[in-house]
Parts: sequence; structure tokens; C-alpha cells
Amino acid sequence: MNRNEQISNLKQEKDTVILAHYYVDGAVQEIADFVGDSYALAKKAAEVTQKNILFAGVSFMGESAKLLNPDKHVYMADHTAGCPMADMVTAEQVKKVRAEHPDAAVVCYVNSTAEVKAESDVCVTSSNAVKVVRNMEQKKIYFIPDSHLAHFVAASMPEKEFIFHNGFCPTHQKIEPKLLQKAKEQHPAAFVLSHPECSPEILELSDYVGSTAEIIRFAEENDAEEYIVATETGVFYQLQKENPQKKFYPVIPMQVCPDMKKITLEKAVYVLEHLDSQPEILLDERIMEQAKRPLEKMLKLALS
Ligand code: 13P
Ligand code: SF4
Repeated sequence: MNRNEQISNLKQEKDTVILAHYYVDGAVQEIADFVGDSYALAKKAAEVTQKNILFAGVSFMGESAKLLNPDKHVYMADHTAGCPMADMVTAEQVKKVRAEHPDAAVVCYVNSTAEVKAESDVCVTSSNAVKVVRNMEQKKIYFIPDSHLAHFVAASMPEKEFIFHNGFCPTHQKIEPKLLQKAKEQHPAAFVLSHPECSPEILELSDYVGSTAEIIRFAEENDAEEYIVATETGVFYQLQKENPQKKFYPVIPMQVCPDMKKITLEKAVYVLEHLDSQPEILLDERIMEQAKRPLEKMLKLALS
């Protein structure tokens, strides 16, 4: 029996589904039952029938899976993998702004803690933020925590008034305009595909802006042969796998999320083998009750 067959038998034996984000190592993506962007993973987490979910991603993704499917046991391939952006806003800050602006809807990027989601009206991911915010009845929007995604959304709906928070993704922040200019000079025929967590200056220099899944879809459907890709390098695995004849260049080699890279094949397989003795995601009951509402509202508004 080869290693893949062993892993597949283990998953069956332990009634476990493996969900992975596009930013994790390609070897981990290969053993996953489903690989996706944050939105697709949230939808999938709400649907899976297995008793256990093993998440190859960062903590807010595992928490969202637990919130959307509370009867499941959710385990992380590495439970220390977090998202620094998620920690850039606190529930206390949200309560304060809400008290100052009672007419504002609190729109919370899914890259946030369960405590912050519990104080929010709706969640969004990078692929549905524009649609969900447009569908909100409130004119005033307090968008947390990512300032770049907030500005990207705000630019497409001048009819709404935004209160911005100052969060950002340290990985996407490293992609600076002068570095992108240089990459464009080196690859003049390349299309530039960027994630909306990049700064407005980077988005301005881009040909297409989208979530990880949207970037992958764009590259598949477009005829161009070369692409400069401004997001975490994990996406290159799917990009190259689906388009072996096309060329993909990072802006800089270090557009790497240290937390996503904590997740290795060895750790994922170890957790699967020792599931019963691993810490599972457990959340306070009140937080569970309150934090699942904005996530469910996102799923509803994103489909409407
Ligand atoms: P998407 O999966 O929505 O593209 O978001 C990327 C991200 O930052 C996950 O941490
Ligand atoms: Fe968080 Fe950025 Fe890493 Fe995504 S890439 S998990 S936003 S730090």
C-alpha cells in the first residue's frame, strides 16, 4: 500500500474529511478532500457529513468550520497557525465604534476571531465582499479588520459611507509598488493578478483583482501565457498544476505567510493518525451562538 492509500484508509477509518486552503504547501493540498478559498471552504465546512474535520489552514478557518457545523469535531493540522490580521481588531474596539455609530453595519472579514465575529452583523470573504456589502441595507459600513479589502470594496460603491479600520495582512503588505513595477519591467507581457489584501497602489497596477480561487479561475480561462501573481505563493501550486504550459511569477520570493507554512504534510498526517489525542476547536457557547449568525448571513447574502 502506498502512502496516499494509507492516508485515504486512515481518513475513512477515522471518518475525517481534510479541508485545505490554497496557501498551504502543495503536498498538503494533494491529500486534501477539498481545496479552496476562504468562501468555498466555509461553504464546504457547513456541508460535510464526516464526523471529523481536519483543517489545513489558519485558526480562523477552523473556527468558522466549527461555527457553521457545530456538531463536528474540528482539528487543525497545526493549532498554532494563526492570522496576524485577525488579531488586529478586538471585540472591545467593535463595541466602541458601534456605540459611536449605531446606524452602521459592522462588516467583518472572515479573517477575524470568533469573539469579533460575535459582535458583527455580517461576515465577508475576499470573493464575496463586494456583493455582500452591496446587499446590506445600511448605508454606513464599519469594515474590519482589513483596511485594503475595505478600500477595494468601497471603491466600487460610492453610495455607501465607510468607516475603515487599520488592519492589514503582513504578507501582502510586503508586496510594494516599486517591486511590482520592477517585475512588470522584467515580464512586460505578463498579466498582473492581485489579491485585494494588497495595497490600493498594487491594485491600481493590476490587470485583475480577486480571491485566491478567482485568481486561479482567471488564469485558467485567460489566453495569456504569463502572469505576475501578487498573493501568497501557495496558489502557485494549483496555478501550475492546472496550467502546466503557462508561466507564473511572484512579485517577490518572500510573499509567504509564515503561519500557512507551519502546516506540513508530516504534521497533517500526524494529527490524522493521532486524532483522538489532539486538541479540537472548542468555543464558548455564547460566542458560538452569536458568531455563527454573521457567517450564516454571509452565506445567504452571497447567494442572493
Ligand atoms: P481568500 O482565500 O479569500 O482568497 O483569502 C486569502 C486569505 O488571506 C486567507 O488567509
Ligand atoms: Fe492572515 Fe495574511 Fe496569512 Fe492570510 S496570508 S492567513 S491574511 S497573515
